[in-house]
Amino acid sequence: MNLACTERNLELNTAAKADPAFLADVLAGLSARQKTVPARWLYDHRGSELFEAITALPEYYPTRTERSILERHAKDMAQRVGRGRVVIEFGSGASTKTPLLLSAIEPEAYVPIDVSGEFLHESVQVLARSFPALPVHPVVGDFTKPLQLPRLGRSLRLGFFPGSTIGNFVAPDAVDLLRTMATTLGDAAQLLIGVDRIKEPQVLVPAYDDAAGVTARFNLNLLTRINRELGGTIPVDSFRHRAIWNDHEARIEMHLLAVHDVTFEVADRIFHMRAGETIHTENSIKYGTRDVRVLLRAGGWTPVAEWTDPQRLFSVVLAEATPPRLGP
Ligand code: AVJ
Repeated sequence: MNLACTERNLELNTAAKADPAFLADVLAGLSARQKTVPARWLYDHRGSELFEAITALPEYYPTRTERSILERHAKDMAQRVGRGRVVIEFGSGASTKTPLLLSAIEPEAYVPIDVSGEFLHESVQVLARSFPALPVHPVVGDFTKPLQLPRLGRSLRLGFFPGSTIGNFVAPDAVDLLRTMATTLGDAAQLLIGVDRIKEPQVLVPAYDDAAGVTARFNLNLLTRINRELGGTIPVDSFRHRAIWNDHEARIEMHLLAVHDVTFEVADRIFHMRAGETIHTENSIKYGTRDVRVLLRAGGWTPVAEWTDPQRLFSVVLAEATPPRLGP
């Protein structure tokens, strides 16, 4: 086979696989002064696997802490939520915390929403074994956009948004998302949301820069994905994972740092980076207890209860859709 032919095959493969939204985000992000790629592109199949591995790391406290809060306070949560709700989970992924909630509140139906159809169907099958009588209506979709849900009758809805995924969204986007959720969930809805709290950088930074290097692989996988899906030539070995605590913004930032000057192509566009320059790949915003209440109110939700762990590492907050009101 001659070279021209090989190149043509490569182009065809790339064209067939390239998601235009991914391409647009990468080209725009790499053209910015501070290079950046939106965090949602970290989660291809490999990225989702690596994230699951992160949740089991000794340094990564959020997952096990949130689970312990749900276990410990399930009865109290159930009392406040009431029976017969339709539970809508946003970004359900592997749904590992969902059984705790479902067995406590005896819902009418369960609607997991996730962009990855593959993960969704796997987890629905696992769930169906534990809850054979529960109607489950999976929805493949992007929960940041208003979604048409399956016909669910008149039962009130409970949104479930665990994992502090809200932390991936800067304030204006987080407010938009909470408002979109309020619209999707309808009148008198409730929202149970997990939020990670501000704490010492000595605890925060290792959670995003673990000794085993799993988070580093998770972050660097983005470059491998760009190369594979968008025909990139990024020299992955020239990059290092960085996790920093930005105190002013109250967030952990993940970056990919170029260790020397690099030049590469993505979709026939040429990019240069200086040694020490970074691509900003994720924000994980942390909240004080009052901060999260302000955020919820701004997004159309009234906080009604909050649970935490003995070390106050993480919060689970229950909120109710704020009815339209007149007032000062
Ligand atoms: C899935 C957004 C909640 O911010 O803690 C974990 C993602 N990134 N380690 C987080 C993540 C690196 C995680 N969220």
